[in-house]
Amino acid sequence: MKSQLEEKLNQYGQAHLLRFWDELNEAEQASLGKQIEAFDFELIQTLFTNQQSGGNKWAELAAKAEVPPAITLQDFANPQSYDEAYSLGKAALESGKLGMILVAGGQGSRLGFNHPKGMFPIGPVSDCSLYQIHCEKILARSKQFGATIPLYVMTSPPTHDETTKFLSENNFFGIPESDVKIFCQGVMPAVDQSGKLLLESKSKVFVSPDGHGGTLGAFVNSGCLDDAKSRGVEHIFYGQVDNPLIQICDPALIGYHLKSGSEMTSQVVRKNEPTQKVGNVVVVDDAVQIIEYSDLPEKYASQTNEDGSLKLWAGSIAVHIFATDFLERSSQSSDALPFHQARKKVPFINELGARLKPSQPNAIKFERFIFDLLPSAKNAIVCEVDPADGFCAVKNAPPAPSETPQHVKDAISALHTRWLEAAGATVEEGTPIEINPLYAPDAATVAAKTESGTTFNQPTYLQ
Ligand code: UTP
Repeated sequence: MKSQLEEKLNQYGQAHLLRFWDELNEAEQASLGKQIEAFDFELIQTLFTNQQSGGNKWAELAAKAEVPPAITLQDFANPQSYDEAYSLGKAALESGKLGMILVAGGQGSRLGFNHPKGMFPIGPVSDCSLYQIHCEKILARSKQFGATIPLYVMTSPPTHDETTKFLSENNFFGIPESDVKIFCQGVMPAVDQSGKLLLESKSKVFVSPDGHGGTLGAFVNSGCLDDAKSRGVEHIFYGQVDNPLIQICDPALIGYHLKSGSEMTSQVVRKNEPTQKVGNVVVVDDAVQIIEYSDLPEKYASQTNEDGSLKLWAGSIAVHIFATDFLERSSQSSDALPFHQARKKVPFINELGARLKPSQPNAIKFERFIFDLLPSAKNAIVCEVDPADGFCAVKNAPPAPSETPQHVKDAISALHTRWLEAAGATVEEGTPIEINPLYAPDAATVAAKTESGTTFNQPTYLQ
């Protein structure tokens, strides 16, 4: 086995991966051999070479960037436009044409939580987990429209087993087990500055999840796409586990997607400053696409319209709706999603077998991003959402200035307080409020269930 592996590795200058081979026991040798056999060294070499030749592609694209076709908050507030969209979305939901992908394969390194991020307790009063909120939102929508919405949860090798156990021990928070599929994304190795793969231990090459763009391949290869098709699912609602405010399967949002004949619809927020840390959804050469905030030169980011508002206003919040056919078509093209490179700190084993923990980025990781499907989608549109209604993600541990658990708990409480106040209730300042999605999935249901004049002055969990 060793000589076969050596032959392959020598071809790509990666023979150091076998440096400790003779010290390994049989099982360790077998597992290292299996790992090495699975790598596409040709691809890794090409990715490394490409990142070196780099170029300033983004500045060129940014210079041509225009505003994407958009459904704005004004459209949502216009009863005629909204009602039409709502009816279309409602009909699609009622006939079981929607499924949901929840991606949860990330390692949540910034949050520093010792479990998959979806298990993080985020309910401002209930302390319930992110998973519970998402599952109950899906169940609530299924009940509201009397049809199943199958849930596809994407994990990664580091999050798979614990996630599966957690969801199954909690009975999928009420969703019938047969309507939940958990599928695992792939991994990619990382390379050092000279293009060499890093060893995590003497018997294991360092790998990490291949980015949320790994959803496409994993969804298809796991059989989940076929499962969705066999259920008559025509559109997939996509969201990320760290945002508990996602308006899961919002009928009007689905309706606008359908009305536009869009193959991929992305929910966006109006950026509050030119360099806000969200991907910029723009049109370049007639194709909708995202330019990351870090790739958009400030001179283009800060362009304004006559009224002083930002020209490139649309910031992605990683909520999308995909036509199932579009996902299938994209999966048939091997280069539908390019790899991006990121410099990261990766602990590794050096040539003496010592484990080093770098203080500076020492490695290049390769990841795919799901939003790179946008340019190949027909009739792609963006739909605006007020972030207070739909976007607040848990990313950072305290005392970070934003996106900490406390920020997110406050955002949930503020949203639910507004729902109650709109229904004529009074919520005394500073009172944490949480509404279980099964009690009321939206403001209209809260209004129907709340007696005007009710006062809330104690932490309250309506369920
Ligand atoms: P982030 O890029 O914010 O990563 O992922 P993260 O894992 O949550 O946190 P950090 O960067 O390590 O601190 C955004 C969403 O995409 C998912 C994550 O689970 C999260 O829902 N994701 C990310 C994947 O499913 N797979 C990946 O390979 C990367």
